Amino acid sequence: MDIKKIVVVGAGAMGNGIAQTAAVSGYQVIMTDVDEKALERGKATISKSATKLAEKEVISEEQKAAALGIHTSLDLEAVAEADLVIEAAPELLELKLKLFAELDKLAPADTILSSNTSSISLTKIGAATKRPDKVIGMHFFNPVPLMRLLEVVRGLATSDETAAVAIDVGKRMGKEPVEAKDSPGFISNRILCPMINEAIFTLQEGIGTPEAIDTVMKLGMNHPMGPLTLADMVGLDVLLFVLEVLQRDLGDDKYRPAPLLRKMVDAGYLGRKTGKGFYEYGS
Ligand code: 3HC
Repeated sequence: MDIKKIVVVGAGAMGNGIAQTAAVSGYQVIMTDVDEKALERGKATISKSATKLAEKEVISEEQKAAALGIHTSLDLEAVAEADLVIEAAPELLELKLKLFAELDKLAPADTILSSNTSSISLTKIGAATKRPDKVIGMHFFNPVPLMRLLEVVRGLATSDETAAVAIDVGKRMGKEPVEAKDSPGFISNRILCPMINEAIFTLQEGIGTPEAIDTVMKLGMNHPMGPLTLADMVGLDVLLFVLEVLQRDLGDDKYRPAPLLRKMVDAGYLGRKTGKGFYEYGS
């Protein structure tokens, strides 16, 4: 199947990064969101990122123009034109199931419906549609224009053809696709989220300051950013959600979220996106 038009659902950090990367890779892209302000913020982020990448000659002026020319829509019916949908809405189970039932009604019968979910079962998402063979996980990493990995996750009913298309699109977007089984957290978040959770326990127990914990992992293990800085970038609400999925679906309390993480989410300290997490951020 030849993919030409991609509709990205959700203009947040992941959605706008996916839309930008798809546009610079030659796809026709529409980015949708229910919130006009989110669409404007998404476009502004794309403009900033594409301008920076063009200045550094990572992308050409034509590619930058393609990113700046992304169409936007407040209407999910935009998926009527899509060969491939990449959903990047908030990480909430009920919302995603409802959204996929809706996408199934609005998109042409042969359109592939993919999700950027961090941890929700692709089998469950597929079952919310009448085309589970055409549903697949395309899990990108933040910041999408820079991170090379694409984790490709098949649900129980996903066809080989759908997986081949997702892998092909990922490669064309400059990513290195890696296949993972449909298991809680897949490969990436099964490993990453417990590591960040342990960093939060370390903070909660007063073993080190946030700066000390991050410096240990940066300078001692050569991580590009410390786990608490990374948590703030990923979003503490997303991190809490993934840990809850791991604990519940793997039935193992070793994944229990640190109480401090829960408290911070309750307080609305979600990281970079709210201006405050383990660190504070200017506007
Ligand atoms: N677009 C374009 N340029 C960008 C950018 C973007 N989105 N984000 C950062 N940059 C630029 C910066 O502006 C900077 O440019 P400059 O050198 O001209 O000032 C350059 O990239 C380098 O950035 P920094 O100096 O701020 O910092 P780093 O050298 O540390 O690089 C990083 C930034 C690539 C984000 C690096 O810190 C990194 O790789 N961090 C780890 C990211 C990671 O682990 N992501 C995965 C999260 S998990 C996830 O997404 C899955 C989910 O399911 C939880």
